[in-house]
Amino acid sequence: MKKRVNHILVTGGAGYIGSHVVNLLLDKGYKVTIIDNLITGNKKLIPKKAKLKICDIADKYSVSELLKNNNFDAVMHFAGMIRVDESVKYPKKYYNYNYHKAKIFLETCFKYNLKKVIFSSTAAVYGNPKNNFVTESSPLKPLNPYANSKLKLERFLIKKNKSKKIKFIILRYFNVAGADFKMRTGLISKFSTHLIKKISEVVVGKRKNLVIYGNDYDTKDGTPIRDYIHVSDLAYIHLKSFKYLITKKKSHIFNCGYGVGYSVKDVVECCNKLYKKKLIFKFGPRRKGDSKMLVANTRKFMKIIKWRPKFNKLNIILETSIKWEKKLSKNY
Ligand SMILES: NC(=O)c1ccc[n+]([C@@H]2O[C@H](COP(=O)([O-])OP(=O)(O)OC[C@H]3O[C@@H](n4cnc5c(N)ncnc54)[C@H](O)[C@@H]3O)[C@@H](O)[C@H]2O)c1
Repeated sequence: MKKRVNHILVTGGAGYIGSHVVNLLLDKGYKVTIIDNLITGNKKLIPKKAKLKICDIADKYSVSELLKNNNFDAVMHFAGMIRVDESVKYPKKYYNYNYHKAKIFLETCFKYNLKKVIFSSTAAVYGNPKNNFVTESSPLKPLNPYANSKLKLERFLIKKNKSKKIKFIILRYFNVAGADFKMRTGLISKFSTHLIKKISEVVVGKRKNLVIYGNDYDTKDGTPIRDYIHVSDLAYIHLKSFKYLITKKKSHIFNCGYGVGYSVKDVVECCNKLYKKKLIFKFGPRRKGDSKMLVANTRKFMKIIKWRPKFNKLNIILETSIKWEKKLSKNY
């Protein structure tokens, strides 16, 4: 008898991370249906083999129709707003998109018996941690409305897990960067606040210089330290999490990073070495809501899911990101 192909529902599949995961799932022979309202996503990032339903996740009618007509094995929930600076300005928008709409969406999924959820959360839920390497049980102290909205949804899932048979994997991403090696997708946002995206824009000549927000942090060189994870490794983490969820049926929260911290200046230095050219930068004031150091302790994920990174080199992250930025200049 022919084995049934797993079918995965992906919200926000037209976005940066979601589209990498969609490509990987299709590469591995899974069936994928995407829900996206294209508010920050782009149709061009979606492979032809994926089905796309253009609607808001909180559109109960359209989502119900989709759920009635398909038999999904799990939902991967990426859809949301992601800019910390914007969330500080418009906190209600972030509450609405990342919590309220997501809650409506997930309630609809549960109603139609779709009860396995992989949720994109963020390391920003830890705020400014005391320990250099944060574990999943480190204190949760979000510093901005974006992180708050993500934590609220985490708590919603945990509560549902207790009251109903909901199983989840919450993935707390550290700093996601880089692009698909085949250059099928990458980060397209013109408003991105991601360091590596901005560096790539400077390298290809779209941006005059890089502004480093704050050089008076209590770190080795005064600039903030982050844990950068290649988006293709993160995509594999989703695949592994899905397999775990359908076989073991156990809920978990996992950090997604490499457990290695680089300061902003380290990243600039790596870029200088790669391109044998000095990147132009200047210092600006600190940004509200930024923490000094966020690096993952990744032991839990490695032990339970048995994942090993493949692309954990800063120069690979930079090279793929810059290559994608060059492609973007021509095609988007
Ligand atoms: N990029 C990062 O470094 C990072 C870090 C931590 C967590 N995350 C989380 O990962 C997820 C994906 O991030 P990304 O960088 O790919 O962002 P993105 O903006 O590229 O993708 C988000 C996608 O969701 C869609 N979307 C947003 N609201 C929607 C709604 N109400 N209904 C339907 N579609 C909607 C957008 O159109 C877009 O395609 C987000 O939830 C984000 O909070 C990202």
